[in-house]
Amino acid sequence: MRLSQYFLPVSREVPKEAQIVSHRLMLRAGMIQQSSAGIYSWLPLGLKVLRKIEQIVREEQNRTGALEILMPTIQPADLWQESGRYEDYGAEMLRIQDRHERAMLYGPTNEEQVTDIFRAHVKTYRALPLNLYQIQWKFRDEVRPRFGIMRGREFLMKDAYSFALNADEARIAYNKMFVSYLLTFKRLGLTAIPMEADTGPIGGDMSHEFVILAETGESAVYCHKDWLNDSLDAGAVDYDADLQPIVDRFTTLYAVTDDKHDPKTCGVAEADLAVTRGIEVGHIFYFGDKYSAPMGAEVMDDSGKSSAVYMGSYGIGISRLVGGIIEASHDDKGIIWPKSVAPFDVGVVNLKADDDVCTTASEALYARLIEAGFDVLLDDRNESAGGKLNTMDLIGIPYQIIIGPRGMASGQVEFKIRESDKRQDMGIDEAFQAMMETR
Ligand SMILES: Nc1ncnc2c1ncn2[C@@H]1O[C@H](COP(=O)(O)OP(=O)(O)O)[C@@H](O)[C@H]1O
Ligand SMILES: [Mg+2]
Repeated sequence: MRLSQYFLPVSREVPKEAQIVSHRLMLRAGMIQQSSAGIYSWLPLGLKVLRKIEQIVREEQNRTGALEILMPTIQPADLWQESGRYEDYGAEMLRIQDRHERAMLYGPTNEEQVTDIFRAHVKTYRALPLNLYQIQWKFRDEVRPRFGIMRGREFLMKDAYSFALNADEARIAYNKMFVSYLLTFKRLGLTAIPMEADTGPIGGDMSHEFVILAETGESAVYCHKDWLNDSLDAGAVDYDADLQPIVDRFTTLYAVTDDKHDPKTCGVAEADLAVTRGIEVGHIFYFGDKYSAPMGAEVMDDSGKSSAVYMGSYGIGISRLVGGIIEASHDDKGIIWPKSVAPFDVGVVNLKADDDVCTTASEALYARLIEAGFDVLLDDRNESAGGKLNTMDLIGIPYQIIIGPRGMASGQVEFKIRESDKRQDMGIDEAFQAMMETR
């Protein structure tokens, strides 16, 4: 992509309305634009990152055997009346009437909708276990939308729903999601700590929030200090094997949000306890027959007896993750994208677009990198060198190759790693090789 032909409305000004760094940087880097409170348009650079995160989440869901579907954003109110949640959900639900005065709503979540799909088609245990997921926009009329896309009203979520014959199979389904979340967040360059969460009337230990640590997080968290030093590695996972040992390993170290913390029972010595803040990026939840029973989603077991199917739901805040990753990875110059979600692999900066030598070299390198399969952003604009370098730093592409007249006089370019700020002069061939080695 040539920056001269791209739409990248960057800004130097620090937006006043943005209270946290990720929101400021997303606005300054031209990734999003507010439409109304908590509702945003995604501009090309922001959308690219959003799509990369989405794809990683999708691949990791698929690896567990979950099947992707796509449900509508607008749902009929009847379904929610069946489950009993229509009144309970309250003001966060955006209620709509169509031209025939039928009550509809913009889905804040999809348990009812997916249960309706399930009950229409599945009648026997032979179709189980089943996990259906989607990546779809949600709307929740939050009282206080804030922090940009972190707590929006319209946001993109991956929501999966598992169906099982009994509580044992439901746990197996839950464990698969638990482990896949560890792998997903790791690929996104994040350490997300599973924290025991409220299970409501169901009880038990089958609800976890996955929280990344950040000073600007909305919830206070208490965790064992070892979580800070150690990004535990779930390693290679066989989803057909018993995953309970992995789940146990990741749930023995203490980690809870403040509503669950009790200094008397926490059992961690004060010196070993970290008190910090975090951002919830995922939430997994087992709720048994809470929806299947009232909605009549029943399956027959091998003795011919029908009973309500056991369900769980599993969310990942895909749009929130864009902000979460920035909170975890930035410096005073701008964003530092982990390679896995970077909008481009490498930026080529032609410092002097009206200089023939620089332009010829930049164009040749640009073509060669594309040929080798890299996604390249070439700054070919006729702008000040300083402004170009600032823009490249701001938008956080992991590698930069900077081509200027001074270096070119001796055939040298500068290869720069955004994260460490390590710079090295080298020939163009070497810079190309250095990129090849980043794969
Ligand atoms: N208002 C929001 N804006 C952006 N992401 C959200 C919002 N609400 C929830 N999410 C994301 O969706 C995931 C699943 O949502 P859920 O657990 O149902 O939300 P909550 O904990 O707010 O009830 C959350 O872990 C979070 O990452
Ligand atoms: Mg939650």
